[in-house]
Amino acid sequence: MHILVINGPNINMLGVREPDVYGRGTYDELCGMIKKHAEKNGVSVELFQSNHEGDIVDRIQEAYKKCDGIIINPAAYTHTSVAVLDALKAVGTPTCEVHISDVNEREEFRRFSYVSLYAEKTIIGHGFEGYLEALEYLVKKYG
Ligand code: DQA
Repeated sequence: MHILVINGPNINMLGVREPDVYGRGTYDELCGMIKKHAEKNGVSVELFQSNHEGDIVDRIQEAYKKCDGIIINPAAYTHTSVAVLDALKAVGTPTCEVHISDVNEREEFRRFSYVSLYAEKTIIGHGFEGYLEALEYLVKKYG
């Protein structure tokens, strides 16, 4: 089983960015945790981060028929991007959405997610652990 993990804008700034909201762990540490968990679960993972909406759309399209599952934290594009939603719908790959923070307890505009209209599971507010839970969900269902 092959899983693609996509992180959107400013996720590369983890550790520096609003540590009271996102914690002190860095993006590299997050990647390390995901890789270790993937190994433990016997799956291969590819990690992709971009600050650019079109690059995220391109990466989702490239996953067509190549990945068995997608884990995506679209970050700010969660709340704005019909293009990311449409790309996920176009490739039809089983998708889990993850948010590090509890978006429902923050500003009103963070409560709506375009990606949730397609993702079959959304994990909110579990910190970095949310990615590991998403991986386990995909492995259990499609692995
Ligand atoms: C986020 C929540 C979004 O509202 C925000 O724009 C992010 C990160 C999260 O992981 O909690 O950049 O997706």
